[in-house]
Amino acid sequence: MNGVPRHLAVIMDGNGRWALARGKPRLAGHRAGAETLERVLAWCGEVGVEILTVYAFSTENWRRPKDEVEGLMRLLGLFIRNRRAKLLEDRVRFRVIGRRDDLAPALRRRIAALEAETAAFTRQLVVALSYGGRAEIVDAARRFAALPAEERTDAAFARCLYAPDLPDPDLIVRTSGEFRLSNFLLWQCAYSELFVTDVLWPDFDRAAFDRALASYARRDRRMGGHA
Ligand code: IPE
Ligand code: IPE
Ligand code: MG
Repeated sequence: MNGVPRHLAVIMDGNGRWALARGKPRLAGHRAGAETLERVLAWCGEVGVEILTVYAFSTENWRRPKDEVEGLMRLLGLFIRNRRAKLLEDRVRFRVIGRRDDLAPALRRRIAALEAETAAFTRQLVVALSYGGRAEIVDAARRFAALPAEERTDAAFARCLYAPDLPDPDLIVRTSGEFRLSNFLLWQCAYSELFVTDVLWPDFDRAAFDRALASYARRDRRMGGHA
C-alpha cells in the first residue's frame, strides 16, 4: 500500500465540453475550472499532498482562437490576484513552469511577485503555463549540453528542467476521459502512476479526488525492481 501521493499532477481537461453541455461559452467552463482548482488545492492540504502540479495551458493551446486564449490569460491573472491572500494564509508556495517568455509582461511580473512572496513555503502549487514537455526537454538539453561530458547523467539532466528541485509526480490524474498525456511532464512521468477519469474537470469533486487517491494507494510501485 502507498500512502498519499507526495506530488500529485493533474491534467485539468474538459472545461469546454462542460460548458457546451450547459449551452454556455467555453470561458464559463474555464471559470468553473478555476473554482475546481481552488477546491482541489484545499483537499490536498487536508489529506497531506505536499505538491500539486496542474496543467493549465499547453504550448499547443496557443493555437486556439484569440478570444479564448485572451480569456484564459485573463483568468490566470485573476486567479493570482484573488488567491494571493489565501495562498499566503495557507502557506502555499506558488510557482510556474513553462515558457514564461510567451506570456505578457504584466502577467509575468504578477507571477514573479507571487513566486517571490511565497518562496519559503513547503506546500506547493505548481502551475504549468505555456508548458510543453518537449519544450521543457529542449530547453533543458541546451543547458545540459554546456556541462562537461562526464557530468551528463540522468540526474544532471533533471537538474536542467524548469523546477529542478521538484520530485517526479507520484500520480498523474487526467480528467475528461482521454488516455493521453498531451505533452505533460514527459521526462518526469517515467514512473508516475496514471489515473484517468471520465469526470470533466469542472465536475471533479471530492468523491472523484478520493477515488484517484484510493486507486493510487493500491498500486504496486516496483520501479523496475522486485515486489
Ligand atoms: C481544459 O479544457 C483547459 C485547457 C486546455 C486550457 P478544454 O478547453 O481543453 O476542454 P475540452 O477538452 O475542449 O472539453
Ligand atoms: C491538455 O488539454 C492541456 C491542458 C489541460 C492545459 P488539451 O485539451 O489541450 O489536450 P488535447 O488537445 O485533448 O490532447
Ligand atoms: Mg481539452
